[in-house]
Amino acid sequence: MRRTDTCGGLGESDIGRRVCLQGWVRFSRDHGGVAFIDLADRYGITQVVFDPEDVPEGSDAPAIAEAVRGFSRESAVSVDGVVRRRVPGTEDPRNPTGAVEVLILKAEVLNRSAAPPFELGDQKEGVLPNEDTRMRYRYLDLRRTEMIRALEFRCRFTSLCRGYLESKGFLEIETPILARSTPEGARDYIVPSRLHPGSFYALPQSPQLFKQLLMVGGADRYYQVARCFRDEDSRKDRQPEFTQLDVEMSFVESERDIQDLFEGLVSHLWRGLYGEEIETPFPRIGYREAMERFGSDKPDMRYGLEFKALTEAVRGAGYEIFKRILAAGGVVAGMRIEAPLAERIGRNGVDRYIAFAKKAGLGGLTWMRCENGRLESNIAKYFSPETLDSIKSALGAEEGDLVFLIAGPWKSTYEGGGALRRKLAEDLDLVPRDRHQFFWLVDCPMYEVDPVSGKRDAFHHPFVLPVENPDGSVGGACFDLCLDGNELGSGSLRIHRPEVQREVFKSLGMSDEKIERDFGFFMEALGYGAPPHGGMALGIDRFVSILLGRESIRDVIAFPKNKKAVSLLDGSPERVDDAKLEELQIMSLSIEGLGPTDGDGEA
Ligand code: AMO
Repeated sequence: MRRTDTCGGLGESDIGRRVCLQGWVRFSRDHGGVAFIDLADRYGITQVVFDPEDVPEGSDAPAIAEAVRGFSRESAVSVDGVVRRRVPGTEDPRNPTGAVEVLILKAEVLNRSAAPPFELGDQKEGVLPNEDTRMRYRYLDLRRTEMIRALEFRCRFTSLCRGYLESKGFLEIETPILARSTPEGARDYIVPSRLHPGSFYALPQSPQLFKQLLMVGGADRYYQVARCFRDEDSRKDRQPEFTQLDVEMSFVESERDIQDLFEGLVSHLWRGLYGEEIETPFPRIGYREAMERFGSDKPDMRYGLEFKALTEAVRGAGYEIFKRILAAGGVVAGMRIEAPLAERIGRNGVDRYIAFAKKAGLGGLTWMRCENGRLESNIAKYFSPETLDSIKSALGAEEGDLVFLIAGPWKSTYEGGGALRRKLAEDLDLVPRDRHQFFWLVDCPMYEVDPVSGKRDAFHHPFVLPVENPDGSVGGACFDLCLDGNELGSGSLRIHRPEVQREVFKSLGMSDEKIERDFGFFMEALGYGAPPHGGMALGIDRFVSILLGRESIRDVIAFPKNKKAVSLLDGSPERVDDAKLEELQIMSLSIEGLGPTDGDGEA
């Protein structure tokens, strides 16, 4: 290689050295015949200069001038030159190479670039082109410093994870991509088999079953940086394919065994990434408490706006709506927005939150203000002074506070309340973005019942070990790791006895035939002395994007899909030739305009 240095490495100690830099022309300007060029690569930007009046003996000035004329933006070029100090007053203290420049002795265009569709220099906020354009030309977008730094950070992150887990005896083992469906609650991507027409593989939603089989196989401690595939609607924190740090270990006895390992991992990451110690153990909060205080199973606990139960306080009130809700077994809860913050929400503001609450699945939103020592509002007349007093004291409301009351069925009401809480925190600027808070969500249920269909579903997945709660109900030995209002990962102790596994499948409404067909192989394996085991998976994309403060996980994935699960870069998914379909014995759907050709609409 002719290149001697990168565009990020030269400094004062290199002055006088003859170097060869190769990179891309980010920017060039002409100052009275002297050309100043910002040469960029992954490592940084170095200013290179061609001055026709200052060409050392032996250099071919006209040839350099000719080459430099071809230095169009984003062309790949090669420059030989001498490092020198910049003229005093022209240094750039924001750039690590900003004290020096390279005087060109020889220049060459390695490959010309077409005019880039958007500016690649360091972007001020709002100057970036729309995301579809960035995705269409992702290879150019990746040249931007911000993107390069994200990929470097991500690489450092996974490398620290690997180092930590291997130091603890974990083996990285690859599991199949072409496999049978693994239920994680999403739809499968399926792949047709040419050799077995009419049969399909499913891409793994996670390596769940295989990592458990590895425990049966005696691997003892497994991990994998595992690609997972889920056909679900894309969001800022979801992609159709994403990466987990997937872990499983044998002979664990409690959830703590797994949680301790991951606290150790996060501590190791913190030291490696920031040179800092992080406080462990992380706080733990039960699922019910999280829902009832924050309206979420992954609450951002860095700010207040907590809900307090009011079901008892309003029980005797004459307010029809509450009466009906309580009679149907629903709940009433309230939150106070303290004065003087509350003054920022006037009558129109309240109306906007009422509209928001309805969209968030709440039937409505009741509000009151604490004025002259009492709770006042348009509906206060439906409550006795004693009821108003008990609401006031339950919420700890004080003069000038605004109070919101939510009411309805337990889950949807708290979930709607949680959405309202997040909206209020955003609007009132209450989220402290300069610090992080981890916690464990524990004491989760084993099952969840869909309020609409009435169907019973596993809270996590059907492989979680059921446990008996102190109140006699069935809980799951499962937990989530949460950070700043996001679910980073989830884990559990697993069922290791086939008869228990069968019981759980049956309690989910599966017939013996279905259990045999879908999970016969797995149940059989559990019957060969499967050890007690458990594990967890962390979403790497999510973790990295939160640590980097990026809006979306798309910003920490080199080649993501857009919000419609389309790759605008290679135009996938794509229709397949009839000939190929025939080979697979799949009927072609020749309806025009079905293919996903466009970009995406809303956020
Ligand atoms: P779970 O389904 O909770 O658990 O997934 C674990 C973590 O993976 C991340 N994640 C996603 N990230 C980006 N896009 C998606 N579509 C997406 N879906 C999930 C999240 C999530 O917390 N097998 C179990 C783990 C176990 O029990 O060991 C599982 O996959 O950060």
